[in-house]
Amino acid sequence: MTISRRQVLLTGGLGVLGAGAALLPTGSVEAKSASRLSDKEMPRPFQAEFRQAPFLRPSSTGIDPVDGAPVNYYQVTEQAANAQILPRLTTPILGYNGMFPGPTISLDQGTKAVLRVRNKLPAQHALDGHTLSTSTHLHGSASLPQYDGYASDITLPGFHKDYHYPNFQPARTLWYHDHGVHFTALNAYSGLVAQYHMHDPIERKLLPQGDFDVALTINDVMFAADGALGYDDNTHSGLWGDVILVNGKPWPVMKVQKRVYRFRILNCSISRSLRPTLSTGDPLVVVSTDGGLMPAAQSVASYRHGGAERYEVLIDFRKYKTGQRIELRNLSNRNNVDYDFTNKIMAFDVTDDAVDTSDPTWNRIPTTLAGSEAMSLTAGQSVKTRKFKVKRNDTTNLWTINDDSWQDVIASGYKKVVADPALNSVEIWEIENSSGGWFHPVHIHLVDFQVISRNGQAPFAHERGPKDVVYVGEGETVRLLMKFTPNKGVYMMHCHNLPHEDHDMMAQFRVGLKDSDPDENDPMTAAKAEWDDDND
Ligand code: C2O
Ligand code: CU
Repeated sequence: MTISRRQVLLTGGLGVLGAGAALLPTGSVEAKSASRLSDKEMPRPFQAEFRQAPFLRPSSTGIDPVDGAPVNYYQVTEQAANAQILPRLTTPILGYNGMFPGPTISLDQGTKAVLRVRNKLPAQHALDGHTLSTSTHLHGSASLPQYDGYASDITLPGFHKDYHYPNFQPARTLWYHDHGVHFTALNAYSGLVAQYHMHDPIERKLLPQGDFDVALTINDVMFAADGALGYDDNTHSGLWGDVILVNGKPWPVMKVQKRVYRFRILNCSISRSLRPTLSTGDPLVVVSTDGGLMPAAQSVASYRHGGAERYEVLIDFRKYKTGQRIELRNLSNRNNVDYDFTNKIMAFDVTDDAVDTSDPTWNRIPTTLAGSEAMSLTAGQSVKTRKFKVKRNDTTNLWTINDDSWQDVIASGYKKVVADPALNSVEIWEIENSSGGWFHPVHIHLVDFQVISRNGQAPFAHERGPKDVVYVGEGETVRLLMKFTPNKGVYMMHCHNLPHEDHDMMAQFRVGLKDSDPDENDPMTAAKAEWDDDND
């Protein structure tokens, strides 16, 4: 039996290809639901209890012999598991340590990390039979190329790879996710996604910590009748699920105290963008973007949140009444396919639990935050302006960047690049989306950038901080300012609508090296995956 990529379905029970599969309808604006669950099994908003992913403990700690820095050693195992997403039915997933989302890594700036990722996945994906090789990207980290989750640097089932993370950058919300070549969308959608928090003294002083520093990993999914995840990417244009999950639970409810909370909001939807807003009409105070603290907090009624972007927002629950329910809603954006309940994300129920007022962040909404290298760059420092067009090729139907795709990179023996900035140089990259039908959240690896303009105007308030993903909306042209530091080598740039990335809107650039220079950080050779001793 063949299953087209257009209409495919994750079957119950990984390893059974297509058993009992009923195909899902393609998304259309009129569709009432994408899931095939019976009414009784279909989840409804605000029934599930909120929870967060557990923190991952280091398996050991040590000292880097070269510079004396502390190092935390972590391990995660990629494995098939059954998740309890729905009230009764179980959902087969692929997860780090069998969880969706995977365990959160939390550490301080200055502590390096070595993350061993063991691939104990089945040989093939139950849905389409693709080989379950993986590549793990720590999104938001200026890692060396061989530890950056380079798509074609794959780890096969039975192997592991040790990823080295420098953690020298300012505090931020990062996330690790699968980046396996041409199957990132299905692998990430199946559950290979987790948060990673880096703290520093500035952020610890300004913003809520501990129980009041809350990870929200949000995505949309669709279900087959048996509770398995359904998959339909509408001929690679996008997957539009009808169920919104927060930390792997549908539209959960969180109990909150009457104080200020910090939420680290990650949209890990493979395609959908969000426009979060509060049901009370009160503002969301954006304090951090992808690359950490903004120079100044920005109070917004709602904001546009594309796939892979991270925004940290403060919500002030002090003035609400005990028992009051505040909803975090989604106003959506152009070209998403919306369903009956995709306008809701989660809810907060206000309790009268005693608030610890000795914690100075309990009632603090800071206005001035922190500068950063990315935000202090000026356009005058730029030595070059490069232009990129993100578009669909009419002949091949492939998504491309300047007509380039990852197939071209593979065909060139991983040599072909779309840019070759010098190490430590500052450039302006202009990205143009002239289509009316698609938006593209574009991610540039290695760098933190500043959005300097959108269609010649100032960037939106919520994106006036260091970024590594920019939402290039319909008919929009953005200009980005960035410094290529501190590593030499090749890095990817791509659309983070993952079906676009896989088919095949991804290219690479090379920092600080000429075509003919030897590359000691060649991601295809410098740090290969190894056979895992633990296999039998
Ligand atoms: Cu979050 Cu290249 O990816
Ligand atoms: Cu795209």
